[in-house]
Amino acid sequence: MLNDININTKIAKLRQLIEKHDNAYHVLDAPLIPDGDYDKLYQELLALEQRYPEYITPDSPTQRVAPKPISAFLTHTHTQPMLSLSNAFSEAEISQFDKRIRQLLTLSETENLSYACEPKFDGLAVSLHYEKGILVKGATRGDGWVGEDITHNLKTISSIPLKLQAKSPQDIPENLEIRGEVYMPIQGFEALNQHCLKNNEKLFANPRNAAAGSLRQLDPRITAKRPLAFYAYGCTSHFGLNTHMDLLAKLNTFGIRLCALSQEVINTQGILAYYQDLLTKRPSLPYQIDGMVVKINHFDFQKKLGFVAKAPRFAIAYKFPAEEAETQLESVDFQVGRTGVLTPVARLKPVYVGGVTVSNATLHNIDEIHRKDIYVHDWVIVRRAGDVIPEVVGPSLNRPRPKNAQKIVFPTLCPVCGSDIKQAKNEVAMRCMSGLYCKAQLIEAIKHYVSRKAMNIDGLGEKWVIQLIESGLIKHIHDLYDLTQDNLLKLDRMAEKSAQNLVDAIENSKKTTLGKFIYALGIREIGEVAAFTLSKHFKNLDNLMLATEAELVAIPDIGPVAASHLIRFFQDKPNQNMIEKIIQAGVFWESIQELPQSLYLPLLGKTYVITGTLSQSREEIKEKLAALGAKIASAVSAKTTAVIAGDAPGSKIQKAEKLGVAILGQAELDKLLM
Ligand code: IVH
Repeated sequence: MLNDININTKIAKLRQLIEKHDNAYHVLDAPLIPDGDYDKLYQELLALEQRYPEYITPDSPTQRVAPKPISAFLTHTHTQPMLSLSNAFSEAEISQFDKRIRQLLTLSETENLSYACEPKFDGLAVSLHYEKGILVKGATRGDGWVGEDITHNLKTISSIPLKLQAKSPQDIPENLEIRGEVYMPIQGFEALNQHCLKNNEKLFANPRNAAAGSLRQLDPRITAKRPLAFYAYGCTSHFGLNTHMDLLAKLNTFGIRLCALSQEVINTQGILAYYQDLLTKRPSLPYQIDGMVVKINHFDFQKKLGFVAKAPRFAIAYKFPAEEAETQLESVDFQVGRTGVLTPVARLKPVYVGGVTVSNATLHNIDEIHRKDIYVHDWVIVRRAGDVIPEVVGPSLNRPRPKNAQKIVFPTLCPVCGSDIKQAKNEVAMRCMSGLYCKAQLIEAIKHYVSRKAMNIDGLGEKWVIQLIESGLIKHIHDLYDLTQDNLLKLDRMAEKSAQNLVDAIENSKKTTLGKFIYALGIREIGEVAAFTLSKHFKNLDNLMLATEAELVAIPDIGPVAASHLIRFFQDKPNQNMIEKIIQAGVFWESIQELPQSLYLPLLGKTYVITGTLSQSREEIKEKLAALGAKIASAVSAKTTAVIAGDAPGSKIQKAEKLGVAILGQAELDKLLM
């Protein structure tokens, strides 16, 4: 039996160890042990605390989530106001900011001025209060002077330490007030919305709203389930240090989580370079930011500059172009893609968003339109983040639906070729079913066929492809090979030299690889990698064209859907004709190590009959034998290679014996299939 002192020491040691691993995982982003080992430590502590509840302390790692809701939010008056920042939107405004500071500090234009630059996190400002190193209180910003006490919720956030770290206890300050941002990482936000969608709950508009909603809970057990994180960006005491960057480094020694992108820069040029760099990093960051924050690095300068109204003079937020904007949806068109899928495209009143003017955006598909409840003429939110295609997020919640709003109706006929539109079972997509007879699909198919990773025909851009099809010079992919300099010259703006270059490019592209050719055919679900795998597996085109579904799905990475598309594609007579014409035109590839057919179809020409019960199902055996080239017959004849007999065979055995046909047992079958 452990005595009191021993229990207490053991519990204290466990807590210390867990705190160390919490810090490594959540603050330093460098876990020291596998999750399973951590869980064991945690469970051990939990078990000890359950057995000896008298030793539970509020800062124990097990006490992050209180077991019951609070009854109401208490207010918290800030020790120093939590200010906001003035905004800048252009280089000129940053230059003005720098100039004004130099004037106020009586610094010349040529003197170097040190700035601390940080991302502007798109979350909520909070203050954290540590007494003797223990987190005792946490509050929202509120109106800047008075916020709400949300200690119960902040304690659930793993990247906020319940206890400060230090080499020795003397290093822990009596009081410490940390300021920073609580945010929801993008991945966690998406998972949360997926969960809401499944449970028919209202979705959150963005990670910031989700973080705000999560902190506004009375029940910390709800907050604990939300993926929140914290970054510190300041502190109300300066520890006698000279600069903001030094202060951040100091906070880090207490185990406070900081963003690694904080950086000291010199002068306006440094700020502008940091901005550009951050802008390129933005799309790949795991959290949302809406700009950068620039702070004068030296505290003595900060003090001299002071404040205006609610914002400091020594800092400014340099905002990124907004990624979302409001505009009106004027109409909806339907674009036909390479595989016939109709994509609704929003035609918008032009709007500046994400740094460019956007007038078209994708509406994805019919389900999305219904789910988002978008009508023509609606005021909508348009989003363009990084280089991604702009999309309509949904109707604007700020304005009522206009009177002339109309429901979006999906066409029943292809807007390009007029043939039927169908929706396949289990598919959201609506498709034009007329394949390459549809001009839109032919254009896309040829664009794909000539593209770099496919047949790599240089100089045949979209503009020419459209003209070739519109002029009737090309009706099928293989017509490409009948193009001559003379008939190319009939195209608008085609010069003699370019026509010759194009003819040469087509000629030069004829030598290819089997993988590229398979990819060029544009078979649904067959991307570059699958095409390469197929080429390696089948070695020549005939084998692939004759492959059965069973053979195809046996290949790693080829699933049943891809297999059925392959079968359908190669069984189609016009496709067979096209391939023949292309090869006749001289397209060729070096054979991939020509193996004698007998090596990959060793049972070609053999016929088996199966009887009795074997270790595998009859269907399975049939498929496997077929994959090796054998035929399976139901009756024994003189042509039968062998009868495969399991337990309790039928009369087929006698027939085989009579005809002198070989009889194989389970062991022989296994050898055949090896
Ligand atoms: S410093 C006196 N640094 O921006 C300045 N704020 O508009 C205090 N914010 O309420 C703020 N990232 O929520 C600072 N790196 C950062 C920030 C940041 C985001 C937010 C914060 C504040 C708002 C001010």
